Amino acid sequence: MKKVKNIAILTSGGDAPGMNSCIYSVFQTCALNGINLYGVRRGYSGLIEGDIVKLKYDDVRDINNLGGSFLGTSRCKEFETPEGRQSAMQNLQKQKIDCLIAIGGDGTFTGLIEFAKIYPNVIGIPGTIDNDMGYTERTIGFDTAVNNAVDAIDIIKQTMKANRRISVIETMGRHCGMIALHSATAGNASIVVTSERNKTEQEIKELVVKQLKRGNPAPTIVIAEKLLDVKKLAENLENELGVEARGIVLGYIQRGGSPTVSDRITAMRFAVESVHSALSQQFGFVLGIRANKIIREPLNSFKSYQPYFDAELFDEFCARNKI
Ligand code: F6P
Repeated sequence: MKKVKNIAILTSGGDAPGMNSCIYSVFQTCALNGINLYGVRRGYSGLIEGDIVKLKYDDVRDINNLGGSFLGTSRCKEFETPEGRQSAMQNLQKQKIDCLIAIGGDGTFTGLIEFAKIYPNVIGIPGTIDNDMGYTERTIGFDTAVNNAVDAIDIIKQTMKANRRISVIETMGRHCGMIALHSATAGNASIVVTSERNKTEQEIKELVVKQLKRGNPAPTIVIAEKLLDVKKLAENLENELGVEARGIVLGYIQRGGSPTVSDRITAMRFAVESVHSALSQQFGFVLGIRANKIIREPLNSFKSYQPYFDAELFDEFCARNKI
């Protein structure tokens, strides 16, 4: 069996805090095992263009605590074509790369499934703030995004309360309500709306009225993105209830920033496992966490899991807020 000497790493899709920590730890684990680590710039786009550089310790020394991805990332349409993947494979072969580690989310792993048919030595590490992949309980970046959202909600609530205003706050998460639910719960919001537990505008209005009647001077509504226009909803609530309201899109402040301790350690655990797997010639899977254990899910089955939604937490949130 050919010994693994050169590993390449890339980040793809939406960046997530902790991706840099993961690259840092992959580098460290490679160094401890006499493996060279190559960085692919701008995800699959850089792979297709051959933008691959050998990393030195100086390149990664200071990245462990940085949000974003120092390698850059992309959502690459060309990787969806056989020609794009063919040139990606040739570039890996040119550099004598024995294994590709891809950090990303659903789109990244979907690309890996096809790529593995011509280049089987791949390993996926889940990195997305959305935490929307059902096969794993955690993805790198989720914890930081929720903490960022809670910091913002705490701040917004203070000024809203002083002005007796309703706030309608949009969180990120693509089609998954985990960021909304966790930040609404930890941030003590009054109402939460997610795609898994959706509500009509009328239902939201009725819940706000209940909150106001119960003596809450500034109800906070947290809504996952893509469900409705929060600014429009705030305007409608203000017009119909005669209480001032503001719609706020939290946006990218959730996705940037220093990774939390939890994300750094999760990133490190995935990194160590990925290099050890490559060393023992194990490929063709994505890493995940279940019951606090690192697991390997075959590439072909990761999509068969429903995105996780914390139904018990949602019920507890409703009970506390009497909604
Ligand atoms: O996948 C992470 C994420 O931040 C989602 O929460 C969001 O819907 C999407 O990426 C936004 O992507 P972009 O920055 O490419 O518009």
